[in-house]
Amino acid sequence: MRVARPLRASRPGVANTQETRRAMARLDSPRVVNIEDLRRLARKRLPRAVFDYVDGGAGDEVTLRENCRAFQEVVLRPRQAVGLEKCDLRTRVLGHEISFPAILAPIGYSRLLHPDGELAAARAAGEFGTAFILSTISGHKLEKAKAASTGPVWYQLYMIGGRAVAEAAIERARVAGYSALVITIDTAVAGARERDVRNGVKELLGSSLLAKIPFVPDVLLHPRWLAAFLLDGGVPRLENVVLSGAGPMVMANVAAALASAVVTWEDLRWLRKLWSGPLLVKGVLTGEDARRAIDGGADGIVVSNHGGRQLDTVSATLRALPEVVAAVNAQAEVLMDGGVRRGADIVKAVCMGAKAVLVGRAYAYGLGAAGHPGVVRALNILRDDVERVLRLMGCASVADLNPSLVDVPEAWRANSRARQSEPARKQ
Ligand code: FNR
Repeated sequence: MRVARPLRASRPGVANTQETRRAMARLDSPRVVNIEDLRRLARKRLPRAVFDYVDGGAGDEVTLRENCRAFQEVVLRPRQAVGLEKCDLRTRVLGHEISFPAILAPIGYSRLLHPDGELAAARAAGEFGTAFILSTISGHKLEKAKAASTGPVWYQLYMIGGRAVAEAAIERARVAGYSALVITIDTAVAGARERDVRNGVKELLGSSLLAKIPFVPDVLLHPRWLAAFLLDGGVPRLENVVLSGAGPMVMANVAAALASAVVTWEDLRWLRKLWSGPLLVKGVLTGEDARRAIDGGADGIVVSNHGGRQLDTVSATLRALPEVVAAVNAQAEVLMDGGVRRGADIVKAVCMGAKAVLVGRAYAYGLGAAGHPGVVRALNILRDDVERVLRLMGCASVADLNPSLVDVPEAWRANSRARQSEPARKQ
């Protein structure tokens, strides 16, 4: 049985080259049926250091696992015996119509997964009629990523290099046509990603040949990736973090730079004055921070724990969603991310009040497995899955999704009620 529609090389925007057709055939059902299959292919193609960079989380990876597990705790309540001719997957997020309620999350260092990196992801998002969020930590210029997509492209900001550097990038994003700014607030320092330490990510990105030696054998075992990486010029620079006098920042310095680039609520108010378009705050896990973001001028909140990569043992994002939705009280749009691997995950999040989800690893595995065709395949799987779930739920459209269609653990709701009745704490 075919689970997802096969990819067609004739799809608009998908190059009809022999190589693309071959890549697509490799990704077709039954070889690739779900996101886990793309993860498996990415693991094969990528050196361990690169695969683990994508796949891993912080500390004991409790939050990483919980993000996925939380979706299993929410139970669907379908309406049976509903005949549906068509299913409308479209929704509107911050003024943009998107073809289904999933947006591509910012993934730093995407160019290490595949030379086309952010450009491939932006292009695939456009082909699917959805939005792409470009990370500050991009190996491709933001102008090129915008040009690669026919859909909305948003810019995710880290304040690396300080306000002057951020202001210059924001101005470039405005001129290039980016339609929203996403401020990530959960990276006071980089999370303790132990897999990266063990795999020598810092050493591999650094300039000392001697320091690289212990980590090179595994890289040599992945010649396809290595050839593509070398032909692409090796470790790219961060083209959108242009430091005064030093040009685009070197990738190896990111962790240290993040630690001196904490975003504060004061920065948010400054950014609000600088950027007149939609502003989203990404990394909110509590009702209190959601209120602070709205007070600072946010139009959208992304409930996120950075995919379990920052502070371990914080709440799974789906679990935090009811508290944030209640605190926001329809004064901003709420998005969520973390652990989305199935159409049913997307449907559950929307039933619980999210306008849409951001998908991170789900497409990053596709990118790592096969570049652009891999991202296309990931989006195909998710979109077809959302449609199937909607039909099985007896819902004609995403707009019909509502809280009555899910059973949410009582503790999650009780938590949100208790927080609301607490007196507001000082910042
Ligand atoms: C991320 N994420 C992230 N977020 C952000 O705001 N800026 C960034 O540069 C990155 N970089 C990044 C790299 C990698 C490899 C991953 C996996 C994640 C977090 C990302 O935007 C999103 O919040 C999570 O990926 C969501 O969780 P899932 O979908 O990966 O489970």
